[in-house]
Amino acid sequence: MKGVLSEKALREVNDKGFVRTGIRVPDSVLARVHETYDRMAPSDSNWSLFYVKRLTSSREFPLRKVHDRARWAYDYVKALARKFPLREVHRRARRAYDKSIFGFSEALPLVLRECLSQGLACHLGDIPLLVGHDIYLEHDRHKKTFGFHHDGFGWDIFYQSDDDLSFYIPLVDLTDSSGGRLLVETRPSRSVLYEDRNDWISRFAAYCRKYQATDDRGLVTRQTVEDSPNRRTIAKEFERLLGERRALPRPTADDMSLIDASRGEVVLFCNKRFHDIEPWKLDVPRAIYIVRCSPLYDFGMAPPATFLNNAPCNRFLLDGCRGTLSPFNAETDMARAIPVPPEFLAADG
Ligand SMILES: [Fe+2]
Repeated sequence: MKGVLSEKALREVNDKGFVRTGIRVPDSVLARVHETYDRMAPSDSNWSLFYVKRLTSSREFPLRKVHDRARWAYDYVKALARKFPLREVHRRARRAYDKSIFGFSEALPLVLRECLSQGLACHLGDIPLLVGHDIYLEHDRHKKTFGFHHDGFGWDIFYQSDDDLSFYIPLVDLTDSSGGRLLVETRPSRSVLYEDRNDWISRFAAYCRKYQATDDRGLVTRQTVEDSPNRRTIAKEFERLLGERRALPRPTADDMSLIDASRGEVVLFCNKRFHDIEPWKLDVPRAIYIVRCSPLYDFGMAPPATFLNNAPCNRFLLDGCRGTLSPFNAETDMARAIPVPPEFLAADG
């Protein structure tokens, strides 16, 4: 994550897995977050669409044999998506969260501008961050939550990196007595997932270029792959690369840092490393607001403007050097993309 975070923040994240920014989103802005999501119904939850909207399809790819617990959850939701109508998938997905809403809410720029006004730039490096989307998660103590996992390279997100940065902002106090605290890999630089860093996504982009799945700018996009006559071949490669990553060993409980955080506090961590949530103990709901960003790396790929249920995404650029948040223009701003560190670049072809 060199260049994504400042040197001090990088030392902090390499030492304990997260950055405590000292920023606290004030109640007036948190009220806007609440207003935004209070207006939305649990049925607006859309994370289950990650399992429905895949590059692969059931006709082309039969269910894999379930061979471990991690794959069980993955295959279970995939099976649901095939067996039941979408509404049923959503209903069953809500066993994990009452609300799990991914998009680009009106609260997002308010929160990030507040962070900038409280000195966010001193925690960031010189690589511009593409502000991908925000997430609202709400659940009571009977829900399962996502559990121990790392955020995979979801197809519908498409543009992402191994150095993605999450702004984790609890909307309730998270303490020993409340439970519900976030756990992250203590030393992400030693993570098994760190070794392949951005290599595999570079290899995937190269593979797509080999099969001419590019637009008139020569960039690989989600649409060019989906429209490609070689879609099936590319989908197999994508699944193979994901499988390689899933097969890597996992950290143990001893390797995880437990994070106490107060309501509105801003914590940064990399969601591509393993993380977990401890059980929630209170009768009131636990609510979390997250903003996901990706460094603007030049993978030869361009980000989509919508995802899941046509929710907007990738609409702002956060510039740590300038301390600014500005609208993202995919046509012109990709020229500002930073080359992926050369030691992790794959050969093209
Ligand atoms: Fe996650």
